[in-house]
Amino acid sequence: MALTGKEISQMHAQYIAQSWSKSGGAARPIKSGKGIYLYDYDGNEIADMSSLLVCANLGHSLPEIVDAIKAQADQLCFAAPCYATEAKSTLAKKIVDIAGADHFQRVLFTNAGADANENAIKIARNFTGRTKIFNRYRSYHGATLGASNASGDWRRFAAELGGANGFVKFIDPYTYHDGWDKADEEKATKYYLHLLEEQLHYEGTDNVAAIMMESITGANGVLVPPKGYMEGVRALCDKYGILMICDEVMAGFARTGEMFCWQNFDIVPDIITFAKGVTCGYVPLGGVVMSKEISKYFEDHVLQCGLTYSGHTLACAAGNAAVDYYLDHNICDHVKEVGAYLAEWEDKMVEKHACVGEARHIGLFSAFELVKDKETREPLDFYGCPNALKAQAIAKLENEYNVHTYGRENTLSICPPLIITKEQLDEILPKFDEVLTWIDEQLATVEKDPNYTTAMAIVK
Ligand SMILES: Cc1ncc(COP(=O)(O)O)c(C=O)c1O
Repeated sequence: MALTGKEISQMHAQYIAQSWSKSGGAARPIKSGKGIYLYDYDGNEIADMSSLLVCANLGHSLPEIVDAIKAQADQLCFAAPCYATEAKSTLAKKIVDIAGADHFQRVLFTNAGADANENAIKIARNFTGRTKIFNRYRSYHGATLGASNASGDWRRFAAELGGANGFVKFIDPYTYHDGWDKADEEKATKYYLHLLEEQLHYEGTDNVAAIMMESITGANGVLVPPKGYMEGVRALCDKYGILMICDEVMAGFARTGEMFCWQNFDIVPDIITFAKGVTCGYVPLGGVVMSKEISKYFEDHVLQCGLTYSGHTLACAAGNAAVDYYLDHNICDHVKEVGAYLAEWEDKMVEKHACVGEARHIGLFSAFELVKDKETREPLDFYGCPNALKAQAIAKLENEYNVHTYGRENTLSICPPLIITKEQLDEILPKFDEVLTWIDEQLATVEKDPNYTTAMAIVK
């Protein structure tokens, strides 16, 4: 007899070690999905406004991807990495073409995002003969040992206990938090780049293999960089012979209105890592795209990387179907149009709500910056307060409104599947509005720090 939702949830609590949480807590049992919606065992329709972990870019149960997986399963589920398969070869070519075949050549497929970054680090060190990898504090690159150490947010702490060498953190261009005005964006860029260059010197520019960044920081609050920042980092890389690695695991595959997020800027990285949206999570897959120069290097040198499931046949079949869908249905154009509509609404929320300090958005990649006080910009929840107000707001959305999303610290993300329509947004966004009103009401009871100031407020 089929299990009930309650039984599934109870077994989850008993047998599943829950990621990034204490084990034994309740988990909502999910039965199925269609388009932007998930369905639980009580028949509730849940609007997925975060594309799960910002991976279900084309929504749930898209027939084109499901059918491709079924067809591949009937033919062959898996061939070892030493074999050439149609699914793997064609997907690699498509990804190189999307990135730009004039600059990129080869793909190393991985199982997901963390091991894509892990391998990108090894490749960068091998290619340059240098050790240090520069990463930013507000970043997440995955949960394996190297990727964790590369990550900046608190999820790296457990991995740092045993350690992995050579990771240097630098400060993000988190302009709102630091107190910059929008009008001074270019000045902010110069400031952050100046600090970065200074730090490169302190670490020894000849020791630095790569600067590895999310093209736009995702989980830590959709930090769209100030104008000229990415171009400035590229210039520093060129100046000191450092590789630029763009982590596109979350921001890639049309999320920002470009197939790769770095394509929003006037740069070309040396290495790209990807996962999530390449298959929309239907089957796990990730990868590392290498420039022609790096690809050529590994024609004469052994690539000391390998995974049993590199280029997994079922996953590549899913990837081919997903990539075809993005391109054939002009998903990037749709994202730009619907994203502009979402952005307009989010900007209205900044005017309307005392708790919304800023809305950051590009394509369908967006987050609210939640504050206690707009004047001082004091964050609603300080770094590392997991059970604070924002978390309660997210639980409220899920449990009372059947809207699923996520957020870290003082940010609340809205990153729906890229196929969402304006009509669907019209139905769902008022629920966010109501929850923001609820946060506004709680602000009266929240203790503010009378001495809180941003870094720029101190300077001024
Ligand atoms: C930017 C970024 N890089 C890497 C990862 C790790 O990917 P995975 O969980 O597939 O290993 C994530 C996951 O959220 C991510 O957001």
